[in-house]
Amino acid sequence: MSLIFCSQSDDSRLWKAAFADCMPELEFRVWPDFGERQNVEIALVWDPMQDQLLEFPNLKLITSLGAGVDHLLSATTIPEGVSISRIVDTSLAQGMREWVTLYTLYCLRRVPEYLALQAAQHWKPLSNPLCSDLSVGVMGMGELGATSAIALNQTGFNVVGWSLNEKKLSGIKSFFGADELKHFLSKCNILVCLLPLTPHTKGIIDSTVFQSLPVGACFINAARGGLVVEKDLIDALETGKIAHAVIDVACEEPLQKKNPLWGVPNITITPHVASVTDPKAAARLVVANLKRIRLGKKPHYIVDPKTGY
Ligand code: NDP
Ligand code: OXD
Repeated sequence: MSLIFCSQSDDSRLWKAAFADCMPELEFRVWPDFGERQNVEIALVWDPMQDQLLEFPNLKLITSLGAGVDHLLSATTIPEGVSISRIVDTSLAQGMREWVTLYTLYCLRRVPEYLALQAAQHWKPLSNPLCSDLSVGVMGMGELGATSAIALNQTGFNVVGWSLNEKKLSGIKSFFGADELKHFLSKCNILVCLLPLTPHTKGIIDSTVFQSLPVGACFINAARGGLVVEKDLIDALETGKIAHAVIDVACEEPLQKKNPLWGVPNITITPHVASVTDPKAAARLVVANLKRIRLGKKPHYIVDPKTGY
């Protein structure tokens, strides 16, 4: 019985060690060295696989190497009857809450402006808003959105959330569905995006969204670049509609040298590092899922290919 690891990342040795700890009898193979086709029961996937996973007759589970599955659903043919799961883990949630809290405070306390003043050797205090003076809106109130919203609320921000279905979280007003989007946006001095990229959310953050935010709002995207119309973001930043944006993700990653986002002064860019999957935690989750499948139970954290998340 074997697992095939399909990612060009250079950390396959870490993943192999993590699986060896959890389930030593599971043979760990790295694509394209899959060994005996009939032995492969699990595929751990980040890179697009087109039709290649159709060729494993005993494949039972395809797991994304991260929380998102857009890469899997858009560029990989999923064999009939094979479950797809994703990573849901406390360390991934902690990483995201920390990154979101950091950059929300960074916007609140005007760090980009102080960095520019420092570069100009200009000692100039600016006005000093407190968390309680601002509202932060979190788009996508799932595993990572909800934990980030709770952390922001505990830090002292007024927090609102937007999702498909209503949420009941203490101290956080829930907006839901397309009809409530505009009202939600009108409340967001800082908008944090943690939506999954699906056929319904692709390009959802466009000029209409930026126009619906209060003047001088900030925008933080930790989810996927494809959720945002990059040209509209650049326009909103250049016209001052958006005071500052922080993006961890882009439509094309790595962001190419010629991408105009690099040249926008009021943007902060991090290279898709908001939160990173821990191979040890992921291995525990995948092995637990394999055991569930063998017992005829449904694996944890499965994805519905119809909704895309
Ligand atoms: P979840 O699937 O747990 O949550 C998704 C949320 O989005 C849910 O609240 C869901 O609503 C909402 N949603 C989905 N579609 C719509 C829609 N059409 N309209 C309104 N709301 C919608 O995802 P996670 O929180 O685990 O992860 C979110 C994303 O974060 C991932 O998909 C990935 O792209 C990104 N990510 C980025 C990382 C980074 O380092 N930058 C690291 C990890 C993840 P409902 O709850 O009502 O179903
Ligand atoms: C993820 C990611 O989806 O790293 O986990 O973006």
